[in-house]
Amino acid sequence: MGTKISGFGFYVPENVVTNFDLEKMFNTSNEWIVERTGIHERRFIASNEQNTSDISVLAAKKALKMANIEAEDLDLIVAATMTADHLIPGIGTIIQNKLGCKSIPAFDIRQQCSGFVYGLEMVDLYIKSGKYKKVLFIGAEVLSTGLDFTDRGRDTAALFGDGAGAFILENSQDESDIIDSILYSDGKYLKDLWKESPNSAQKGRVTIEDIQNGKIFPKMNGKTVFKHAITKMPAVVTELLERNNLTKDDITQIISHQANYRITQMVAKRLKLPMEKVFSNIHKYGNTTAATIPIAFTEAFAEGKFKRGDLIITVAFGSGFTWGANLIKF
Ligand code: COA
Repeated sequence: MGTKISGFGFYVPENVVTNFDLEKMFNTSNEWIVERTGIHERRFIASNEQNTSDISVLAAKKALKMANIEAEDLDLIVAATMTADHLIPGIGTIIQNKLGCKSIPAFDIRQQCSGFVYGLEMVDLYIKSGKYKKVLFIGAEVLSTGLDFTDRGRDTAALFGDGAGAFILENSQDESDIIDSILYSDGKYLKDLWKESPNSAQKGRVTIEDIQNGKIFPKMNGKTVFKHAITKMPAVVTELLERNNLTKDDITQIISHQANYRITQMVAKRLKLPMEKVFSNIHKYGNTTAATIPIAFTEAFAEGKFKRGDLIITVAFGSGFTWGANLIKF
């Protein structure tokens, strides 16, 4: 028996932040951001009004409605996030409580921009093992409250947005399935995309110097990340196709992590696919890390990019470095 995505949905905060708004915060321009990233605007929570679990619950309610099940029918919650409301505990249990679920297992995974492809394999294997039957799987981030909106942090501050997406996964009664997944990591690139502080070796975890030196903000070697993303993502898609005796023409739509429109274009080019087959909505939301894939999946379906029975590939690359892809018969 396979695993079916029976419901999905997303939520983004109402507050739209354009590139012109960022121009007022640090030395940048709408032209630079659009040309280098394809991003026109993103959504930020209104500070102190919503947190990651709040936006997760709003996305989860849409997915539950589509799957036509109630929160009390769930028997597992998994949340992919690197921006939990608090460091302790994760958001899985907070979501369990806010949704009014029974006392089911609920936990977080991290994996940054690859969180959704990693978690999708894990949930798929849980369902196929027979251990859990109705799973809520969330990808959610509130990044805006942890970015450096000064000239020092302009390379990362221009990229990210807040958002949440949710899938309901169940035993499949038809051909729908998560057919296969391939995941990778390479930890030697730790410092090419990381946040140095808090640090477990540091007494008190965060020092005044960390704050003054901006070590509490994400740091990235953009060119290295770019180079690896445009290599690793097409390679893992090709490997997934070959392992399943498929060609790119069998795939109706690729739902790629939304990191940069130029990265998505390069993925399409290297796979020799037209852009119509590789979904992009980064112009509206920026990079929402673990939430990009469920948000893009939901919008692509709403736009008629795929239908039940079609083959879809989800693919991501992120900090760690981590990357991977899932082959889905929708
Ligand atoms: N506005 C204006 N200028 C900016 C800027 C901004 N927001 N951010 C960086 N710059 C400047 C830099 O300071 C640098 O200036 P310098 O040449 O005077 O030192 C210059 O732009 C960098 O230009 P370049 O290196 O050619 O940019 P790029 O084409 O590599 O684009 C990124 C930069 C960050 C957009 C690109 O590297 C990228 O998208 N990398 C991947 C990042 C990513 O996806 N991260 C998440 C991974 S999941």
